[in-house]
Amino acid sequence: IRDADIVIIGSGFSGAVIAERCSTELGLKSVILDRRAHAGGNSYSEIDPDTGIEVHKYGAHLFHTSNSEVWSYINRFTEFTDYKHRVLSAYQDKIYAMPINLLTISQFFGKFMTPESAMALIAEQRGEMAGKTPRNLEEKAISLIGRPLYEAFIRGYTMKQWQTDPRDLPENIITRLPVRTDFNTRYFEDRFEGLPVNGYAAIFERMLASDKIEVVLDTDFFDLRSQIEAMGKLVFYTGPLDRFYDYRFGALGWRTVDFERDVIGTKDFQGAPVINYADEDIPYTRILEFRHMHPERNYQTEKTVIFREYSRAAESKDEPYYPIGRSVDKDRYDQYRALAAAEENVVFGGRLGTYRYLDMHQAIGAALSIFDRTIKPRLTQPEQVS
Ligand code: FDA
Repeated sequence: IRDADIVIIGSGFSGAVIAERCSTELGLKSVILDRRAHAGGNSYSEIDPDTGIEVHKYGAHLFHTSNSEVWSYINRFTEFTDYKHRVLSAYQDKIYAMPINLLTISQFFGKFMTPESAMALIAEQRGEMAGKTPRNLEEKAISLIGRPLYEAFIRGYTMKQWQTDPRDLPENIITRLPVRTDFNTRYFEDRFEGLPVNGYAAIFERMLASDKIEVVLDTDFFDLRSQIEAMGKLVFYTGPLDRFYDYRFGALGWRTVDFERDVIGTKDFQGAPVINYADEDIPYTRILEFRHMHPERNYQTEKTVIFREYSRAAESKDEPYYPIGRSVDKDRYDQYRALAAAEENVVFGGRLGTYRYLDMHQAIGAALSIFDRTIKPRLTQPEQVS
């Protein structure tokens, strides 16, 4: 740390981009601390020991972006497969295409619909909320897509995600529920999409390969904080914002996900990478089957590995995954942000450091821009001569 030009907390995409830019563009040294036993943050993937199938340890990570700067940047460290994500939703023993599109609507109402007839039907079903102001999530969803589609695809799923009846959730959790009027069943609509040919861990190995970057694992920043601060080092911090200030304004709320891993003695368990479960009485929200994310690998194992996902509010020992963003969180966040903005030697970034859900391409894009706007000018200032 003594020799480093910058100390980076967190080795996810946010921290890795800053370290890579500092070494490649500026020739400067960074030390990255991560409290986990591996680099890569939540995007990390590894080979499942029982099946040889690559699993995304912290949930399905699909790479997609329309940002050509981010796409060309990440392509320096990996090639991508031509994987295109698709999702299905099971409801009452039937299976439907997601997000809601003309195929879903035709399947659900049991007849072949045209864009026009489907939209006319939904307009009629939304009519129940005509002229009324939605007071909760349920009413908002019905005002957008009508009651039958809401009750099938949104109600139970939302209930499981938030463990709260949608009638007791604020209407502003959703602003839109996209309904496609064509038969496009692709999940993402971005210009670029794929999965890293050799997995996510390999991306981080390449991003952090320079001898100007030292990665120190199993190390919590808060155990070394006073030493680092005493050295006056520039710090790029991507850990939780509230923890940096010892929760003085209260903890920011997050949802977490529990993953239940299961190895099954069959070659193909569900025939698809992700199936959502919309029924309220099925406790998990979805099942991931990782073998289907890399069909080009043609895995020969006769077993398959699946993750069942269960969603709930995070407690202090849990991994924070999705910001809840209640009004109390927003007030707390504003207070923390005011302190953060006044820090001289600390720059905050990443999803935990800014209390925002960021997709990988957004985390990379934000880190590239923080590097250009904030880190690079700070590290390349001419030395003050006293
Ligand atoms: P990230 O969380 O990856 O890294 C932060 C790092 O800081 C961690 O390694 C942590 O251990 C470390 N750290 C924290 N506190 C510390 C401390 N005190 N000391 C030392 N180290 C500390 N995106 C996408 O594009 N497509 C997708 O399909 C998905 N899917 C998805 C599923 C789920 C369940 C989640 C929760 C998220 C996604 N994402 C996603 C989002 C993706 O995970 C996200 O964009 C990146 O993880 C962001 O990278 P960061 O570096 O900002 O944080």
